[in-house]
Amino acid sequence: MEVLVVGSCNTDLISYVPELPRPGETVSGTRFKTGCGGKGANQCVMAARLGVSTAMVAKVGNDQFGRDAIQNFRDNNVNVDHVTVTREAHSGVASITVNDRGENCIVIVSGANMTLSPADVQAAAHLIRGSKVVVCQLEVPPDTSLEALRLAKQNGVLTIFNTAPAVPLSDDFFHSTDILVLNETEAEVLTGIPVGDVETAKQAVNRLLARGPGCVVLTLGAGGVVFSGRGSEDTDTLTHIPAESVATVDTTGAGDAFVGAMAYYLSRQRELAFSEVVRRSGVIASHTTTLPGTQTSYQVNILPPGLT
Ligand code: RIB
Ligand code: NA
Repeated sequence: MEVLVVGSCNTDLISYVPELPRPGETVSGTRFKTGCGGKGANQCVMAARLGVSTAMVAKVGNDQFGRDAIQNFRDNNVNVDHVTVTREAHSGVASITVNDRGENCIVIVSGANMTLSPADVQAAAHLIRGSKVVVCQLEVPPDTSLEALRLAKQNGVLTIFNTAPAVPLSDDFFHSTDILVLNETEAEVLTGIPVGDVETAKQAVNRLLARGPGCVVLTLGAGGVVFSGRGSEDTDTLTHIPAESVATVDTTGAGDAFVGAMAYYLSRQRELAFSEVVRRSGVIASHTTTLPGTQTSYQVNILPPGLT
């Protein structure tokens, strides 16, 4: 495989409302959409749609949402040999509310995702060793992600670790991480630095780099991306790449599109300068915010030319 993702699958239940409700308030929505989501699944499907071979290591429940999630992977040419079904828990669900400005609130009930174990990663060891890029997040037990990062790193496979949603982590995770990708909120959880602008983003990136990853890529939404690291010709200094301005309707899943696009470039177009990988991934992520939904907004046929 060019890209293997160890991570979560959810069914996204998305309600569109003028304003997000406050505690105790009931608001009327204007539209409703269901779709396949989960950060791991989203990242994998983005990479697959850009055209690389992909595999997913994940767990779903023995229910309709789980069956639909597996079918969705198949429809996107994702290898599902290691997407297994558990009877111990329901499939993951995410109740998402999106306001008129495209901002969201998400409640996740992880269910089966939390039963994905280090043993499940070991069962896929042969696939992991044979991959070019392995991608992990934190919607499955952190030990499971750590197992995957270590196994990949020991076998010379490039590792992308997206610390979403953030929880405090030991440095072990970062020693097995080639590229750490995170947003402002996650950076604050991991560093204690409230990230509000490029300057504070740079401080957070430096703090994170000291913990061991090869490279840190901090996404700032409409503020663009800041990155720094070693191991690539143009990553020894801190670089800020501004975002394109687009007509945003729904930012849900844009971060996952960014990670999936990075995995695509780093597995298929290794000759690209790292800054160009980041820039192009940012363009792809921005474009997904112009369409509603998560995976439903990953439409590679409407991307501007010259990206793939
Ligand atoms: O990042 C967006 C994703 O987060 C959604 O698809 C939802 O399932 C949650 O996991
Ligand atoms: Na979107």
